[in-house]
Amino acid sequence: MDKKWWHQAVVYQIYPRSFNDTNGDGVGDLRGVIEKLDYLKELGINVIWMSPIYPSPMDDNGYDVSDYVSIAPEFGTMADLEELIAAADQRGIKIVMDLVVNHTSDEHPWFVESRSSKDNGKRDWYIWHKPKPDGSMPNNWNSWFTRSAWDLDEETGECYLHLFSKKQPDLNWTNPQVRNAVHDIMRFWLDKGIGGFRMDVINLIGKPSDYPDGALDNVGVMGIDHFANHSHAHQYLREMHDKVLSHYDVLTVGETPMVTTFEGKLYSHPKRCELGMVFQFEHMDLDKDSNFAAKKELDLVRFKEVMSRWQEDLHNQGWNSLYWSNHDQARAVSRFGNDIAYRVESAKMLASTLHFMSGTPYIYQGEELGMTNTYYDTIDQYDDLLDHHKYDILINDEQLSDEEALDIIRPFSRDNARVPMHWSNQPNGGFTSGKPWLVMNENYKIINAQAALEDSDSVFYHYQKLITLRRNSDYANVIVYGWHQLLQPKDPEVYSYKRYDDQKSLLIVSNFTDRTLERSFDEKVIRIVISNYKGSSSDLSALKLRPYESVVYEITM
Ligand code: NOJ
Repeated sequence: MDKKWWHQAVVYQIYPRSFNDTNGDGVGDLRGVIEKLDYLKELGINVIWMSPIYPSPMDDNGYDVSDYVSIAPEFGTMADLEELIAAADQRGIKIVMDLVVNHTSDEHPWFVESRSSKDNGKRDWYIWHKPKPDGSMPNNWNSWFTRSAWDLDEETGECYLHLFSKKQPDLNWTNPQVRNAVHDIMRFWLDKGIGGFRMDVINLIGKPSDYPDGALDNVGVMGIDHFANHSHAHQYLREMHDKVLSHYDVLTVGETPMVTTFEGKLYSHPKRCELGMVFQFEHMDLDKDSNFAAKKELDLVRFKEVMSRWQEDLHNQGWNSLYWSNHDQARAVSRFGNDIAYRVESAKMLASTLHFMSGTPYIYQGEELGMTNTYYDTIDQYDDLLDHHKYDILINDEQLSDEEALDIIRPFSRDNARVPMHWSNQPNGGFTSGKPWLVMNENYKIINAQAALEDSDSVFYHYQKLITLRRNSDYANVIVYGWHQLLQPKDPEVYSYKRYDDQKSLLIVSNFTDRTLERSFDEKVIRIVISNYKGSSSDLSALKLRPYESVVYEITM
């Protein structure tokens, strides 16, 4: 497979609203990102993906864009962004923008025109259907944030489709004018020298022309069997590649709910010219109970099966992205580790387990500090519209009590990730001199970047070592391109796998429990490459693993 610069990249995701506020308004900004570039250089990453920074009514914190070619005033100016691109470039860091084009904001001038009348020139830029004769919605699709995916526009008597909130109407990608407008937006940013795009729910852009009902035994959001991974989505991506992306050497990653490895290959096989890689979600569902998606313990056997399948199926046939967390997911250490007794050990264990896989790793802001979930007492303290939608369903449809509903919401709330960054033990973690837009986690007094930088044993320096191993070491090739083999697949407590190429072999062993365990392996150790404990054993015939211990060995070929 041809090598690409982004194969060996490590991406850091910034949620600008919560990263670093320099003007005291309680909301992070672009100057705040510029201020922290040296911190990111020290960590060793070479790509920053920024969640949306465009003007927006912020119904979904910027994933509802009202102007694709400007900067939201709360984040700064175009001059700030240009300065950021240049200052990052001086440090060898590229900026990846979030491209949110399955939908716009309802306040985008395109939609304002579209809804103004049935014969407006932009009517067909969105998806309008008549209600059924009985007045009900055109089909039974749900959206992620509302009950029906349709909303009736009283003025014109037709309904528009919105797979997310009412304020996020879906664009009609069958219309070539829409596709051309998106291509123009992409060229606008690419010509500013950005390093690529993360494309929001890009596998939802192709809808079936007959808008059929979703199957009633449907898994996930009702209708997703029809609107995810439609062949039109592949067609539009190939056109986008041909017309725009093929002229630039950039990273592209598609956010793609409901993808299998088969679909993952279709999107990311280099010969198909669609995307560089996709974010798959299979591994994000293995600690959710089907009962209203309540938290349950991670099923490690299933987890290993999922991760290995992606590693093996995409080997030389596509490219993987690797992530534990992002702005939509709870904090990894609280979710998959132990954020109390073994916070540092388990955060490092999770990092090692993922960062020795093949693919491009994504680190979400604060993950490198082992930041934890934040649990609020009342629903009003939650900002995220998804939590409010879930709360409504749990209280009104499922008839749960307030406390029962909150117990379900807390572990997975997206606000866990959106609580502002902890920079220091100063008020508000040094994030802002004003009132933070979301209530802080008081543990910033202990868990913060300043403390991490002063402690050579911190989670930060563990990430730094992992990044160096991948980007600049004798192990780089085996880590980035080597083969993968899962060991002891049925072990529910220990994750062990091998990576090998024709020069080197590695064995990764991670204890996912808070107990000391003993396991044995046939491999012969050459050296320990990295461990999250001092004094890890090299006796693989009777290997003692302390709670959350994770050791990576170079082994004989
Ligand atoms: C996926 C984004 O990651 C999420 O934050 C957003 O709410 C939806 N897409 C809608 O844009």
